[in-house]
Amino acid sequence: MKKIAVLTGAGISAESGIKTFRDSNGLWEEYRVEDVATYEAWVRNPALVNEFYNQRRKKLYEAKPNAAHFALAELEKKFDVKIITQNVDDLHERGGSTNVLHLHGELKKVRSTVDPELVYTLEGWELKLGDKCEKGSQLRPHIVWFGEAVPLIEVAAEISSDADIYIVIGTSLNVYPAAGLLNFVREDAPKYLVDPNASPMPWIRNLTTIREKAGTGVPALVNELLIME
Ligand code: OAD
Repeated sequence: MKKIAVLTGAGISAESGIKTFRDSNGLWEEYRVEDVATYEAWVRNPALVNEFYNQRRKKLYEAKPNAAHFALAELEKKFDVKIITQNVDDLHERGGSTNVLHLHGELKKVRSTVDPELVYTLEGWELKLGDKCEKGSQLRPHIVWFGEAVPLIEVAAEISSDADIYIVIGTSLNVYPAAGLLNFVREDAPKYLVDPNASPMPWIRNLTTIREKAGTGVPALVNELLIME
């Protein structure tokens, strides 16, 4: 089976009603990264940071996977598919994908502030200040904040370099190290980028740019790949 790796960003979940970060009307227009998405912010004002993620989690419970998430699951019929997502939502899993790596953490999970190995799935949307891990420390969102290490980046780089076909969907490729993963992909591997606002990347070999929304662009691409195989 050929190996397909897929790198996704906020754009794939936009049509499910989840806001992106850097588009106009995106989350980083409403909030400052330094106020809600760094460890320093959590130490300074845990209530504000916690409320930010509680609201995101609440919205996630109202959201459903869209045609792009479902189409990626279909790809597994003929390919060995690995998804590397920067998204903290669980829409790939709910869309049926079975192999999903969450580079930036998972919104429905929380973890201990003294032992990063202690990760729990939260019941419902609300984490409360005062909710503690089994070692008695405050639980925090299981999110990779700006300035924190990205523990799964090496696994993601390996998946990228192993891929026979690489698909990038709905990411501005602004945030490193995720944005650098394309550099690990074999030069001769066909690459596809689905994003209505994709910028040209002439230095990437064998890249086909599909300037469409994920909800239409991804199912069309998936059909094409399934027919070709
Ligand atoms: P961005 O908000 O930076 O980029 C979203 C991308 O999605 C843009 O390129 C849009 O053009 C595209 N887009 C918008 N609507 C789309 C649609 N319907 N279909 C396809 N594409 C669409 O989001 P990311 O690149 O995912 O990290 O951001 C990367 C990281 O920055 C996030 O994981 C998050 C953020 O700060 C953390 O919070 C740690």
